[in-house]
Amino acid sequence: MAGMNLRLAFAVVSSACWSAFQHGYNTGVINAPQGVMSEWLQKEALSGTNTSIPAKDDPKVTTVWSIAVSIYCVGGMIGGVITGVVADRFGRKLGLILNNVFAFVGAVLEGASKMAKSAELLILGRLLIGVNSGLNAGLAPMYLAEISPTSLRGSIGTVYQLVITITILLSQVLGLGSVLGTAGGWPWLLALAVVPAALQCLTLPICPESPKYLLLNKGQELHAQRALNWFRGDVAVHGEMEEMHQEAERNKVSKKVTLRELFSNRALRSPLVVAMVVMVAQQLSGINAVIFFSTDIFRKANLDEAQSQYATLGMGAMNVVMTIISLFLVEVAGRKTLLLAGFGGMIVCTVLLCVANMYTHITWVSYVCIALVILFVVMFAVGPGSIPWFLVTELFNQSARPAATAVAVTVNWTANFIVSLSFLPLTLALGSYTFAIFAVLQFLFIIFIALKIPETKNKTIEEITAMFRQQL
Ligand code: GLC
Repeated sequence: MAGMNLRLAFAVVSSACWSAFQHGYNTGVINAPQGVMSEWLQKEALSGTNTSIPAKDDPKVTTVWSIAVSIYCVGGMIGGVITGVVADRFGRKLGLILNNVFAFVGAVLEGASKMAKSAELLILGRLLIGVNSGLNAGLAPMYLAEISPTSLRGSIGTVYQLVITITILLSQVLGLGSVLGTAGGWPWLLALAVVPAALQCLTLPICPESPKYLLLNKGQELHAQRALNWFRGDVAVHGEMEEMHQEAERNKVSKKVTLRELFSNRALRSPLVVAMVVMVAQQLSGINAVIFFSTDIFRKANLDEAQSQYATLGMGAMNVVMTIISLFLVEVAGRKTLLLAGFGGMIVCTVLLCVANMYTHITWVSYVCIALVILFVVMFAVGPGSIPWFLVTELFNQSARPAATAVAVTVNWTANFIVSLSFLPLTLALGSYTFAIFAVLQFLFIIFIALKIPETKNKTIEEITAMFRQQL
């Protein structure tokens, strides 16, 4: 059976690692330096030449700051929307390489915003980096699914999420006041996104395009065979070529699927609903409420500033460790089991957190709260963090995959946008009971997963799509 080899590993690093780097790093990077950057907005970018300096809590400063933070998700939605077109027109590999234009321009604009004293440049830069991340979230998992042998598709798919967790942690460390989270350092912190972009442009051209794209979309038999040989090393590829040929035969009948067909054809609609719900579930579980605002949450549980920052780093590290474990678990326990276990654990933590929050005046209870927040992230990493990214690529065949991925990725970024924008106002209104909303939603998602999601472990894409056809 085909397994991991050095070339496949190189392709995984060149595609997924540098793409997920942008996704995770830019998700986390803006949180730690919030203080120094808001001060810059207040004193330099928004003060103008003739007008007086706005106060620190001036609504203008807060509004511009919130826009700079959340516009990243808007960029992600745009990237999601264009994923299908880019994947079909340029291919997965060239699409990923070209996508770095957004990263280069975005990172340079962000880095230059301080010198130019321009909040607009910062916002535009965040938007472009967001578009880059949105496209990455669609193209990279698609490329990974199409170059992986069936038995490793889950583990290789999990690499995307693993790198997100590592780079969220990296951005939190680099953003500390003692590293780059300073008045002079933050432009460098943001501009650092050019590094993964450059590394991808240097390494990905060495790897071949996805063999499935070459054969099924381009009809290039010889190139597809060569590409597959490259990815599989010494292992014979007849079986896999044969499978692709069979899919190519069927593809002649079912041409490229459009968005309208995706929603109107019943055999495609049910996997689409599954893909959309797992994406919504991943975000509305409340994960980013914790990832973005953990320092605040810890402070409210009576930790001081420094302790809260370290607790946040501890949480980030646990997220990485559990994602590494899930990389192995996913091929043993399966996708459905891990999703259920993960969301099941999250709901227990969330309910306990709501109860414990009523008693934070008792010292030991506040420590329990901290433990529960960290455990919440660990349970997320069991499955809800990684599985949605590659599940969508498993549920559709070649002709429907780009359009379906585009829909799913857009849904993910939209839900992410909603949570990041509404969490703070919600906590102002409901306090820690905001988490009760997440608990209710998690409960609904668990029921949906138990009833509607089929197990896709060790099945070929053809077997998976056939399962949905049989349900009709
Ligand atoms: C997933 C989510 C992302 C979140 C991250 C945390 O990748 O899509 O929004 O920040 O997990 O690990």
